[in-house]
Amino acid sequence: MNDLRRIVIPEFMIGRGARFNAGGYALNLGAKKVLLVTDENVQKAGHVEDIAGLLSETGVDYVIYDRITPNPKDYEVSDGAELYINSKCDCIIAVGGGSPIDCAKGIAILATNGGNISDYEGVDMIPEPIPPMICIPTTAGTSADVSQFAIITNSKLKYKMAIISKMVVPDVALIDAETLTTMDAHLTATTGMDALTHAIEALVSTASCTFTDIHAIDAIRLIINYLPKCLQYPENLDFRTEVMRASLEAGIAFSNASLGAVHAIAHSLGGFLDLPHGECNAVLLPHIIKHNFPHNIEKYIMLARAFGFTGDVTDIKSASEFVIDKINNLNKEVGITRNISQMGVKLSDIATLSEKAFNDPCMITNPVEMSINDITEVFENA
Ligand SMILES: [Fe+2]
Repeated sequence: MNDLRRIVIPEFMIGRGARFNAGGYALNLGAKKVLLVTDENVQKAGHVEDIAGLLSETGVDYVIYDRITPNPKDYEVSDGAELYINSKCDCIIAVGGGSPIDCAKGIAILATNGGNISDYEGVDMIPEPIPPMICIPTTAGTSADVSQFAIITNSKLKYKMAIISKMVVPDVALIDAETLTTMDAHLTATTGMDALTHAIEALVSTASCTFTDIHAIDAIRLIINYLPKCLQYPENLDFRTEVMRASLEAGIAFSNASLGAVHAIAHSLGGFLDLPHGECNAVLLPHIIKHNFPHNIEKYIMLARAFGFTGDVTDIKSASEFVIDKINNLNKEVGITRNISQMGVKLSDIATLSEKAFNDPCMITNPVEMSINDITEVFENA
């Protein structure tokens, strides 16, 4: 067995108050003018004001770009890159959930490589390194702050482009659970289920390894235990810290082991109907587990054990049903109850959605190859 692996993660600081080191890190990275990338809701929560204040104190100039919507669009990336270049910025700080961070990565790609963001879709398509970049996540789920992934919606063709490259790993992630208490219940639930999906897909991925498995399993246990508690006690920082750590560990795992069919299908679905990414994952996850379980029994049994399955490991049917029940119950507990038809998918959309999911790069590392017919069946069942 060839066990030679390359693992890429950024420098990260985790703990309460970590975000207040942004000014010092910007100085260390040689920043003179920062593009502060965020969105309106994060601004309203006061997180941007904090970081802008720190930059002013350290004598670093900045300009704010906040015209970013959920599921960031290609034209938002182009507008941000134009602002970066015209303002003569030399560093990017992203403050927010997955959308501002992914958009910031897109801006960073265009800042040094030019062209359109669609030119960089796929795996290892970015020739030039990006400018210095610091990420401050304000949700616990996407892990875009530590990952090799940037997901940008192609607004004309209405699907999410997956950009996967070590070039988009930021220099520094400042991971601070204090930012999480401004999330509402739905955002807490959907981002938490996104993190759970990252961990599960990384665990069973054909590109997984012992190092990524350790982090994936730890993330799964933390989310099962603490996500419901975060919804019950949203102000409790200890619970938020555990889910933040879970998100980080899931991010380390999936960034290096990649993902699978849940994300491939969720990218197609979310890009088409502009739906919350975590909700798409949460709804699809039980269906893909059912499909994949027989194709990586060892890893799915590890997953079943993490969920508390104590039965006979040779009883694949019971183990599979146990995990699926647990995930369905967790979805209910955190308030994710819609099926994909209630989310807006029509039967006539399924052929196009299935084809886009089939071509998504996340499909490559699914435990078993899925045909367009297999994907269509998942859509119909979901
Ligand atoms: Fe995700």
